This record gives sequence, structure tokens and C-alpha cells, in this order.
Amino acid sequence: MREVITAPHAGFCFGAGRGVEEVEKAIKNGGRIYTFGPILNNAAVVAGFEEKGVRVIEDLEELKNAEKGTVIIRSHGVPKATYEAIMASGHKVVDATCPFVKRIHRIVEEASIKGERIVVTGNPIHPEVVGIVGWSVTGATVIENSDDAENLHFEDGEKVTLVSQTTFNRKKFQELVEIIEKNVYNISCMNTICDATAVRQQEARDLAGRVSVMIVIGDTHSSNSKKLYEICSECCEHTLFVQDASDVKGNLPEVEGPVGITAGASTPKYIIEEVQSYVRNDF
Ligand code: F3S
Repeated sequence: MREVITAPHAGFCFGAGRGVEEVEKAIKNGGRIYTFGPILNNAAVVAGFEEKGVRVIEDLEELKNAEKGTVIIRSHGVPKATYEAIMASGHKVVDATCPFVKRIHRIVEEASIKGERIVVTGNPIHPEVVGIVGWSVTGATVIENSDDAENLHFEDGEKVTLVSQTTFNRKKFQELVEIIEKNVYNISCMNTICDATAVRQQEARDLAGRVSVMIVIGDTHSSNSKKLYEICSECCEHTLFVQDASDVKGNLPEVEGPVGITAGASTPKYIIEEVQSYVRNDF
């Protein structure tokens, strides 16, 4: 039997796990169930829920026309206007916005009401960032790289509040903050990066450094899973990126030593367990 070591924080973070639990609870309670956008960045999980009657709603128009039921707001959160429209839609609403994301919404809303300019470090088209921007009453500037930071222009004496997408890279965040702080004096930088990502990445790095083969499980569309793959590849020559156990079959390098496993934030436990048992028994 092959030795398999799984990173303790592989898979769902707190917020994603909570979103999935809410969908499972709603399925048990019955009735029409909708998620506002896919609940996770994982096609298998979304398809599994769809089979149980859960429908992904893409926009407010679709929600308006849907038969009344329960609508679940996913962990990424939504802009304030969307939130209010969902609340007023006549559906039962379960708000599974991650509390860490909610906190950013509050910071942005309050600071913008006070007249401060809002800057967000993150990917401008990521739903979490779109949601964050949508809680500012005056809009926000999203910056992703050092060029964006260099190109920002501030008025004299302008007050700025800077927050970050929860999954933004810490090092990059520090770099961007340093660039901006050269140009603006009155800035309050809130490091709102979530520890779940950093912890998972650190564990992956440590584990990849002491195993012969490292397996990263994640959906091909999940950016945090791809990042884990990058980190592990730097520390372990034999690193595989798989979506589930079927991708491992026939692809495990024939080298001696333990196999490490980690998984992106949207990978469900049952997929991790299937990969574990395949590697343990069938190698
Ligand atoms: Fe929340 Fe952090 Fe996950 S912000 S959704 S627990 S990555």
C-alpha cells in the first residue's frame, strides 16, 4: 500500500463549505432551489446539485421569472443593488456570502459614504471583486498589477481606503501597497486577504517538498487550484493536476516514496477521498 499524506486544509475553505451546506440543507427542505451563480467553481459539484433539482440563476431577470422558491447567494457575495433586488424578489433568501467577504462590503460601504476613494486589489472581472465594488456608493478602482498601481492618480489630500480580494497574492498586495503609498499620504490599507488561501498554499509547499509525487486536485477553471499546482511544481518534480480519481489512473509516475495530496478551495471532500483511496490501493 502506498503512503499517502493529505494536507490538513486541502479542499473547501470555510466560506465555500458553508455555501455547499446551505444548498444541501435546502435540498432536504424541498421546494424550488436556485443558486445565484454557480455555488462553486467546480463543474462536478454544480452538476451533482443540478441533478437534485438545483438551478443556477445567472441574473436578476431570470430570477424574476422563476417560480418562487429558495435562492442561495454564494460565498463570493453580490453587489449591494443585486443583494437588495434578490431580497425584494419574493423568494426565500439564504445569504451564504462568506463573513470575511461581508466584512469587506461593510468597510467599502462605510468608507465610500464618508467620501473616501475606494481602491481594490484583485481581478476586476472576478465575481467577488464585482460584488465588493458594488458596495461602494461612489464606485471603486480595481488594480491588479504594478502598472495599474503606478498609473493611479490621486487628488491632493484625497482620502483612500484600500482593500483586497480575499484570494489575492499577499506578496503582490504588499508590492502594490508600497507603490501607492509613495503617491498618497492619506491611505488606510486593509489587508483583507483570507488566511485560508495562505494556509493552504503554505501546507502545499511544505508537503510538496517532502514527497516523491504531489497531486493537486481541482477544477481546470479554478485559479486557486492552478496556483497550488504552480507552488507544488516548484518543490516537487512529479506534480500532477487532476480533476478527480479518473485523471490519476495510469498517470502516477513510477517513483518510490510517499504521495502528497492537496486540493483547491472548491474541491469537495468525496473527490479528495476517492483520489486518496485510488492512490493508496491501486498504484
Ligand atoms: Fe471566505 Fe476565505 Fe473562503 S474569504 S470564501 S473562507 S477563501
